[in-house]
Amino acid sequence: MKKRNKVFIDCDPGIDDCFALLLAMKHLEVVGISTVGGNTGLFNTTRNACYVVELAKRTDIPIYAGYDKPMFTKLETAEEVHGISGLGAVEIREPNKKPEKEHAIDVIIDTFMKQDDILLVTLGPLTNVAQAILKEPRLKKRIPQILCMGGSVTAGNYSPCAEFNIYADPEAAKIVFDSGIVIKMAGLNFTRQNSMIPKDVTILKNMNHDIAQFAAQLLSFSVNSDRQSELCDACAISWLIDPNIVPCSLPMHVDIETKGEFTRGMTVCDYREYIGTDPKMDIGRSVFYPVSQGVRNVVAAMEFDQDRFKKLLFDTIKSYGE
Ligand code: BDR
Ligand code: CA
Repeated sequence: MKKRNKVFIDCDPGIDDCFALLLAMKHLEVVGISTVGGNTGLFNTTRNACYVVELAKRTDIPIYAGYDKPMFTKLETAEEVHGISGLGAVEIREPNKKPEKEHAIDVIIDTFMKQDDILLVTLGPLTNVAQAILKEPRLKKRIPQILCMGGSVTAGNYSPCAEFNIYADPEAAKIVFDSGIVIKMAGLNFTRQNSMIPKDVTILKNMNHDIAQFAAQLLSFSVNSDRQSELCDACAISWLIDPNIVPCSLPMHVDIETKGEFTRGMTVCDYREYIGTDPKMDIGRSVFYPVSQGVRNVVAAMEFDQDRFKKLLFDTIKSYGE
């Protein structure tokens, strides 16, 4: 049997986080889940994570609550996108599954100081990870790789420049991006190549089991409010499950803007060396730019195979009913 990647997932469920967790629980070895305030407050993100693992009958996976707000600012939530509870219009019963007593950052430190074969996945603001690095700087050499849904090589969503997860706590993002840990960045330039539409809600509705109905309700909330949904976090985690979903990724230097009047939370991606090398990526090439002087701290996902992703998603959700 193919060896499954071991992952520790930090998240803020969140509609698309739930889809990512459903994919991860089937295809990856999830050693732990931590929660952070983001799409909604920490109480909700933790309860939602507990609910999803319970629904998937994976209560063996421990869940740890982390920080409820960014390092220096107040929490900006995204309830217009994810609903007041973080799960759209789904009314959930209180899960029996409860978070463990330990704080998320202590568990992140303990896990990565003891083991070196686990990948860290971040699907929310980077507060927990940054705080863990500040408390235990040796983590910089211990975490082999972070798969981060965040940022964008092109436009943002929260603002013209900034993607939500990075905007929510740019100081934390800066600590993580400057840490020297290799970051695989699944940004909006990549997730925007996915579009879940009403027909996809129907496909889920037609699978007759609890998890598919839950997924259909979540997706229908996103599709109804925005006409389509990218399911960013699910796209991000699919990169670990099937690397062929990302036919092109590029190494580059990325800085996090923490000060700009209009650009706070921007991932400033130095992709000048690639300009014009692929007509799909750029509008023209008139100047030759030297290779970036900065360290290539990020591998950014550039291209997305939507058909392959949707097949993985639907097959996985279907398999929960078998
Ligand atoms: C990211 O922000 C959140 O709203 C989503 O859960 C995703 O992690 C997309 O910008
Ligand atoms: Ca998220």
